[in-house]
Amino acid sequence: MRKQIAAANWKMNLTFQQGEKLLDDILDAGINLSPDQQVIFAVPYPYLLMTRSEVEDAANYEVAAQNCSDKISGAFTGEISVEMLHSIAVNYCIVGHSERREYFTESNSLLAEKINRCLEYRITPIFCCGESLAVRESGKQNEFVQTQLGESLFHLNAENIKKIIIAYEPIWAIGTGKTATAEQAQEMHAHLRSILAAQYGQEVAQAISILYGGSVKANNAKEVFSGPDVDGGLVGGASLVASDFKEIIRSLK
Ligand code: PGA
Repeated sequence: MRKQIAAANWKMNLTFQQGEKLLDDILDAGINLSPDQQVIFAVPYPYLLMTRSEVEDAANYEVAAQNCSDKISGAFTGEISVEMLHSIAVNYCIVGHSERREYFTESNSLLAEKINRCLEYRITPIFCCGESLAVRESGKQNEFVQTQLGESLFHLNAENIKKIIIAYEPIWAIGTGKTATAEQAQEMHAHLRSILAAQYGQEVAQAISILYGGSVKANNAKEVFSGPDVDGGLVGGASLVASDFKEIIRSLK
């Protein structure tokens, strides 16, 4: 069975001390994960090592960076390379979050480079895709995500595409409190899986975890995750509240 994943995306929130307390509150609950389940904390760079040591003894709890450079190393002041992440045992990285695409003008082709860098250092990319409200209203969302996957991922061979986690995050649902319905999420996830199957075959498509992101909350996670092609969620706001995120973890299939 492919992994069912609850990923927390803290974005640019919380002080170090607040982050430490949040992790303590969540981990102290001792929620046991099955081998098919995973919890990933995508935290700000300065908190990666602390988070790494917090989850050390908790099986299937992992740490992710929220971004990385597309460059290998060199004179890129303020950037963080995948080699740096690898050197502190960070094994996951969000790539192409819509906020990066929108505010930092990250294009599909730049994201393809970031994906390559991650894979070179055996870091699992959590690749985000998803359409804006305007695209959804024009009914072009299927073609839109197909282009995002095509331009950022389809240069990979079958062996490497299996190393990717995909997160479908409709922009109109992020931070708006307006979640896609369970039916809308399942419909898009099935579409994404069919695109993967057309490119790489069913066996590969079935192996890839596809997370839903966009206003996942404690009170809707179970329903949203219930779709057969929805393998958990990438959670922003609700991941900052211990009781909410614990409930979301418990909602995993
Ligand atoms: P949200 O954010 O849960 O606050 O909508 C999700 C995300 O952007 O990853």
